[in-house]
Amino acid sequence: MTPFDYLKQTEKRRMQDLFKFLSFPSVSAKSENKKDVAACARWLSDHLNEIGFKSRIMPTGGHPVVYAEYVSDKKEPTALYYGHYDVQPPEPLDLWKTPPFEPEIRKGYIYARGACDDKGQTFAQIKGLQAVLEATGSLPINVKLLIEGEEEAASENLPVFIKKNKKMLKADIAVVSDTAQFSKKLPAVTFGLRGIAFVEVFVYGPNRDVHSGGFGGAIANPINVLCAMVGQLHDKNGKITVPGFYKNVKSLSKWEKQQFKKLPYSEAAYKKSLGIPALHGEKGFTTLERAWARPTLDVNGITGGYQGEGTKTIIPATASCKITMRLVPEMDPKDVCNKIEKYLLKIAPKSVRVKVIKHGGAKAVVVPTEGPWLEAAGRAIKTGFGKAPVFMREGGSIPVVADFKSMLGLDTLLIGLGQPDDNIHSPNERFRVIDFERGCKTAAVLPAELAGVRQ
Ligand code: BES
Ligand code: MN
Ligand code: MN
Repeated sequence: MTPFDYLKQTEKRRMQDLFKFLSFPSVSAKSENKKDVAACARWLSDHLNEIGFKSRIMPTGGHPVVYAEYVSDKKEPTALYYGHYDVQPPEPLDLWKTPPFEPEIRKGYIYARGACDDKGQTFAQIKGLQAVLEATGSLPINVKLLIEGEEEAASENLPVFIKKNKKMLKADIAVVSDTAQFSKKLPAVTFGLRGIAFVEVFVYGPNRDVHSGGFGGAIANPINVLCAMVGQLHDKNGKITVPGFYKNVKSLSKWEKQQFKKLPYSEAAYKKSLGIPALHGEKGFTTLERAWARPTLDVNGITGGYQGEGTKTIIPATASCKITMRLVPEMDPKDVCNKIEKYLLKIAPKSVRVKVIKHGGAKAVVVPTEGPWLEAAGRAIKTGFGKAPVFMREGGSIPVVADFKSMLGLDTLLIGLGQPDDNIHSPNERFRVIDFERGCKTAAVLPAELAGVRQ
């Protein structure tokens, strides 16, 4: 029996197992889901033990890590597989066609929160490894699996965990399936991810909400002020106005620009799929460059005042917003947070008090675009998906990838199994059944390809 035979024979069971994994509301951001996150980790760890790994749950300062190993042969390479079992909050719930934690297949897609990001992709890697184990009796490489429960909460406790467990995590290469393919026709290897920096801004006005007729015009309105401040963060060319923001930003290499240009990309289709009347962004860059390789600043949420039914004529006491900035290599999240804090305090009018909370973030990464590991990944994808992958960067962030490099000296193979329109972080998140299956195949071929790499 070959690993592919095994995958074929176990198709139904594999989907049932994935459905079970998807049914845990392992939302790391919310304290009310703490037990669900723990139950999900327990199930995953038990499952890994059942299928031939040595797995355990390891505590961190936050949600636990599931860590598993398979020791093949000291002389063979060791791959450190990373994934995350936590998911984004599912809200807004009324926009889901079926409940987020009751997985369902419709028209070739598995629908559930986490279906793609990242339970589905992580599970494909696990099931591929299992297929090799079952079909051949062993794995040709040493495997370490680090599956964390806080990625969607910026992996706050993972650097300390890695530092404490450096020896345990020693490996030759890292493997991560938590990105996307370029399109339904084109699998990809991702060689760059943006970093991220978080801040929250609070604007304080009068010591209580007051009548907007009685006081309006005589005092500053915190919402008006906050909006005006946010409005000053970009200039008319879409450049971020925070002094020093672009200081360490390198321009894209010729090779990168060429790679991006080569991709079969349609701005019209992109626009249409999003239902927007026009695209928007920093002048002088293409859409792919803007989304993958340029730093950005976005408000993720803004609150203040009355938001209930009907009207309420007040000047609110406070307003606040959450801002994230996407970073490119050489930008430091702490430095960027300091710079935006300084600028916001500078542009704040005297009529209000402003507070900025800096949450730090994660650094961007660019991994090698050539070498034996990459070639091995390329071959595995070609076998699994029937097509050789293209190289691309992506705009999202996976905090641990930079830590793998700086703390463990590891490069990462970013093998995305999802699609750009899988609705990750959105309602009706999904994962194509065929991408899951091809992902399992890719994962079943990868170990032998990695075993062939001699350093
Ligand atoms: N899997 C994503 C990252 C991603 C998304 C990579 C799309 C490539 C394309 C990951 O789970 C994620 O959402 N990361 C967060 C990180 C943040 C919470 C620190 C992100 O990018 O917002
Ligand atoms: Mn993810
Ligand atoms: Mn995510």
